[in-house]
Amino acid sequence: MALKFPEGFLFGTATAAHQIEGENRWNDWWYYEQIGKLPYKSGKACNHWEKYEEDIGLMAELGYNAYRFSIEWSRIFPEEGRLNEDALNRYTEILELLRRKGIEPNVTLHHFTSPLWFMKKGGFLREENLKYWEKYVETVADILKGVKLVATFNEPMVYVMMGYLTAYWPPFVKSAFKAFKVAANLLKAHAIAYETLHGSFNVGIVKNVPVMLPASDSERDRKAAQKADNLFNWNFMDAIWSGNFRGAFKSYRVPESDVDFIGINYYTAAEVRHSWNPLKFFFDARDAEIGDRKTQMGWSVYPEGIYRVISKMAGYKKPMYITENGIATLDDEWRKEFIVQHLQYVHKAISEGYDVRGYFYWSLMDNYEWREGFEPRFGLIEVDYDTFERKPRESAYLYGEIAKKGEIGEELIKKYGLKGL
Ligand code: BGC
Repeated sequence: MALKFPEGFLFGTATAAHQIEGENRWNDWWYYEQIGKLPYKSGKACNHWEKYEEDIGLMAELGYNAYRFSIEWSRIFPEEGRLNEDALNRYTEILELLRRKGIEPNVTLHHFTSPLWFMKKGGFLREENLKYWEKYVETVADILKGVKLVATFNEPMVYVMMGYLTAYWPPFVKSAFKAFKVAANLLKAHAIAYETLHGSFNVGIVKNVPVMLPASDSERDRKAAQKADNLFNWNFMDAIWSGNFRGAFKSYRVPESDVDFIGINYYTAAEVRHSWNPLKFFFDARDAEIGDRKTQMGWSVYPEGIYRVISKMAGYKKPMYITENGIATLDDEWRKEFIVQHLQYVHKAISEGYDVRGYFYWSLMDNYEWREGFEPRFGLIEVDYDTFERKPRESAYLYGEIAKKGEIGEELIKKYGLKGL
């Protein structure tokens, strides 16, 4: 039997500014790319800044009815107090074109990158810097008229962990105290943006939720997995409403706020075991070993996880969107299977009454995968980085077929689906 999705369900794709636009010269990532602190340079990325018409045209042709992308703060304010009207106009054109093509935009205001001048002042580590964020939010609100879905932050805890805990990403700080302070300030920044935008827009936040699986059945490992889950996933979410953010060592007061929707980014599961190392908060989390294949990111594929995350996130009683879900592989058959199987689980969740209103595949096209550069291929559309030619993969058409019909057809389920779901 075909699996039908509810009327109005959004079938979209997702991207982020720095990963596709190219020439984002005014942000922190660009800076560290140039001085050699990052292994790959984003350069012209997918040259989307110039080729946005072609890209939006492709989305429409393929039959996708929604698109999640981010606005690059450093384009809008390349220097402190200097507003770049051209950038505002370009984003306005992008939004108008989406509207004309009948594609619902879902806009993220911060997707990992920040203006370099803002980071030089301490970025989100310093609460007094939130006035700059507020100014940015007020400024972009003007061009977002008519947009329904606006998310404040993409994956705040990933930003914190990578930038301030593991020092794998800019600004390469390794301090648990600073990390949780940044997280608390991101909650404050979210509250500011919610105050500013709520009423005119549905304002959400996008949370990456890896499933934390205990490495064994032992009490210790189960407790460790619970701890990792709370520290990385749920403490941040809880704090949005409670105003109390539980960090690793202490709690932080943050304003009580709200969201109108929750974005879920789901990719994979982690395997967590107990550790005696206090610097690791007494747990050790690694990529889980599930199945016999790993994606180009070294991740296992675990479709059931998307269902588990939805059912847990449902506790907050807000509409949910899968704002990212995707696979980095050169094996496009595997991508097709990935999409069908994850959508099967999303469908299962909806049929059980969970309020999921859309699914955005990561990513529309191959792009700059942060520290991993251009090698991982997440795209439905293949990008030739020499010519910037776009070529939809077969999976792009398969996903288009699902999107146009609003259902996963019986044939697709037979060929790629999980049995007995
Ligand atoms: C991020 C994207 C990233 C993707 C794949 C998500 O965590 O939001 O920027 O490209 O995962 O790694």
